[in-house]
Amino acid sequence: MFLRPPKNLRDYGSWAVVTGSTDGIGKALAFELAEKGLNLVLVGRNPSKLEATSNEIHETMISDEREVEIRTLVVDMEKSSGEEIARAVEEGIEGLDVGVLVNNAGVAYPYARFFHEVDVELMESVLKVNVDGPTWVTKAVIPVMLKKKKGAIVNIGSGSSVIVPSYPLYAIYAATKAYLAMFSRSIYMEYKEKGIDVQCQIPLFVATKMTKFKRSTFFIPSPKMYSKASIRWIGYEHLCLPYWTHSLQWSLLVFTRDNGVSGLYSKSIDYSGFYFSLQTNPLLLQAAKGLNLVLVGRNPSKLDSTSNEIHQSCNNNHIDIGTLAIDLEKLSGEEIAKAVEEGIAGLDIGILINNAGILYPYARFFHEVDSALMESVLRVNIMEQPGLPRQ
Ligand SMILES: NC(=O)c1ccc[n+]([C@@H]2O[C@H](COP(=O)([O-])OP(=O)(O)OC[C@H]3O[C@@H](n4cnc5c(N)ncnc54)[C@H](OP(=O)(O)O)[C@@H]3O)[C@@H](O)[C@H]2O)c1
Repeated sequence: MFLRPPKNLRDYGSWAVVTGSTDGIGKALAFELAEKGLNLVLVGRNPSKLEATSNEIHETMISDEREVEIRTLVVDMEKSSGEEIARAVEEGIEGLDVGVLVNNAGVAYPYARFFHEVDVELMESVLKVNVDGPTWVTKAVIPVMLKKKKGAIVNIGSGSSVIVPSYPLYAIYAATKAYLAMFSRSIYMEYKEKGIDVQCQIPLFVATKMTKFKRSTFFIPSPKMYSKASIRWIGYEHLCLPYWTHSLQWSLLVFTRDNGVSGLYSKSIDYSGFYFSLQTNPLLLQAAKGLNLVLVGRNPSKLDSTSNEIHQSCNNNHIDIGTLAIDLEKLSGEEIAKAVEEGIAGLDIGILINNAGILYPYARFFHEVDSALMESVLRVNIMEQPGLPRQ
C-alpha cells in the first residue's frame, strides 16, 4: 500500500478546499495540494494567518515557476452556527470545480483533564470545531461533487478514537473523532457508487502546535512529512494511517493491546477502577427499582403521564418522582446544564442515564438531510453539552 501510486488529484477537479489551513497538518497539506497543481480555497478563522499562508504558498509556487489560484475564506467554526458555516463555504466555492475537500480543522485540550474539569468554553470549542465544522462543510461541498460524479473527501480523525480502546483525560476530543470516523465510514458507503471517495485519515502524534512537540522524531513526523504521506492515500481506503511509523505503532498496539495500552496510562489512571464501576452498574440498575427518579423530557404532559404510570406500577409506594421539562434541541448547552443543576439541587443522585436521542424518520443520503434535521440530530445526540450558544 505504501508503494502503490497516488491518485492524480486533478482528476477529481481543479480546486481543493482545506479547513484549518493556517497551521500544522492543514497548512502542510495545502502546500502539497498546490504542488500537485490544485487551486486552493483556504478556510481558517484568522484573516492575517490566511493571508500569510496564501502568500507563502504563492512564493513557493513562483520559485518553482508554477501557478495556482488561492482564495481565502474566513470561517470561525467555534463562533458560527452550522448553517452559517455551510452558507459561507457554499458562497466561497460558488462556480469552482471543487474536487478535493480536506476537513482538517480541529481542537484538542491543551492538557489532559478529567471530564468534569473541562470548562464550558473548551467543551464548546472542541464539539463545534471537530463535529459541527466537518459535518456542515461537507454538506456545503458535496452537492458540487455529486453534480459531476467525482470528488474526494478527507476527514482528519485521530488515533485517540480508532487505535486505542479508550482515551481517558481527553474524553470529549476522542469522542468527537469517533464521530468523524463513523461519519466518514457511513458516507463512504453512501457515495462510493456516486464517484465520491470519502476517507478518514488517522494521524498519531505529529509535531504541531496542538501536540506541542517541537521537533520530529522517528514516531512523530513533522507536518510536512505527514502531509507528503497523507496525499498519497487520498482516494483509497475509507480509513487509513498514512504515515508508516504510525502504522508500525498501530501494529505494536494491536499486538500488545491489553498490556501495552494500560501500561501507557497506568501512571495517571487506574483502569481497574473503571472496569469495577462498569461491572457494578447492572447491580445498581437492579437497585433502581427502589430509587427516586428525576424524569427529564421536552413535553410536560408526557412527563406527568409517565410519572403517573410509574407511580401506579409501584403501587404509589416509597418513590418520589420529579419531572424536568427541558427541550435539548431548543436550549443551549449551558442552559441545559443550569436547568439540570437546579432540578437536582439537594438530591442524592446516584445514577444518570443519558437516553434522549433522535434518528432520521427514514433512511436518506447525507446530502438529502435537511438543515433542520441535521441541526436536531447533532444537537440532541451530541452537542447537548454546556456552553453551546443557541442561534
Ligand atoms: N498533531 C497531531 O498529533 C494530531 C494527531 C491526531 C489528529 N490530529 C488532527 O489533525 C488536525 C490538525 O491538527 P494539527 O495538529 O495540525 O493542529 P494545529 O496545528 O493546532 O492546527 C489546527 C488548525 O485548525 C484551525 N482551527 C482551530 N480552531 C478553529 C476554528 N474555530 N475555526 C476554524 N479553524 C480552526 C487552526 O487555526 P489557527 O491557525 O487560527 O489556530 C489551525 O489552522 C486536527 O483535526 C487534529 O485533531 C492531530
